[in-house]
Amino acid sequence: MTMPRPLTLLIGFALLTALPFALVSALQGIDGLDMAQAEPTRFLHPEDGAASRALFVHMIAGAAVTLLALLQPVAAIRDRWPRVHRVSGRIVVFGALLTAAGGLTYIARQGTIGGAGMSAGFALYGVLLAGAAIMTLRHAGRDIARHRRWGLRLTWLAIGSWLYRVQYGLWHAASGGAGSTPSFDGPFDQAMFVGFFLPHLILLEIYLRRRPGPAAPPQGAIRPPPPREGTRSLQKG
Ligand code: HEM
Repeated sequence: MTMPRPLTLLIGFALLTALPFALVSALQGIDGLDMAQAEPTRFLHPEDGAASRALFVHMIAGAAVTLLALLQPVAAIRDRWPRVHRVSGRIVVFGALLTAAGGLTYIARQGTIGGAGMSAGFALYGVLLAGAAIMTLRHAGRDIARHRRWGLRLTWLAIGSWLYRVQYGLWHAASGGAGSTPSFDGPFDQAMFVGFFLPHLILLEIYLRRRPGPAAPPQGAIRPPPPREGTRSLQKG
């Protein structure tokens, strides 16, 4: 029996710890969609149903994206069940677009609890998530190296919302919540407007650039064959 790789173990651990967050997010979204919450949250705006519904849909889609995106880099799944990888990958891409669109709609109509800085940071997060989803799909079945690089960016961004809660939890445990206020205007809150996804993305970029890539074929070398039939449907971005 082969031992699971350290990355697979890490992903398994992340999945288990992300599961409660994803469940709560999905349930909050489902509960909110009928716009008749027994205990209304601050996301329920009876006068602006479009904003509330967009955010509730984003919670449901985001929950699926958080969990499924973690499975996409697992080599054992890709190699043994490529169809599972493809179907789940399409759900992640579609879900990421829905999550981003829902979040962006809410920001445009209602803003965020932390004001302009938080709205700008979260909007950037949404745009990057949607962009990474489109680029991952665009290169699928066409350019495997680019597809994997964009896929890793997509996975990091997809778990960003969960990492946001993890980072807040760790910070509160370590510092008792220094620099954080209920209205999200403390220095820690402000750093977190982009701090929950941008540093990770920059570190990933450094890793991707330093990682030895496949050697470039010498000039005049035989070009790789065109993609097989059946992969063409994935080739359009
Ligand atoms: C990737 C998976 C995501 C999940 C699972 C998720 C989940 C959630 C949840 C559960 C809430 C409610 C938080 C609370 O109860 O206080 C929330 C709020 C929010 N999310 Fe997301 N989200 C995700 C991604 C995104 C993205 C990409 C954007 C940006 C477009 C975004 C924008 C927002 C906004 C604007 C709020 C309300 C902020 C506020 O005023 O408190 N989310 N999200």
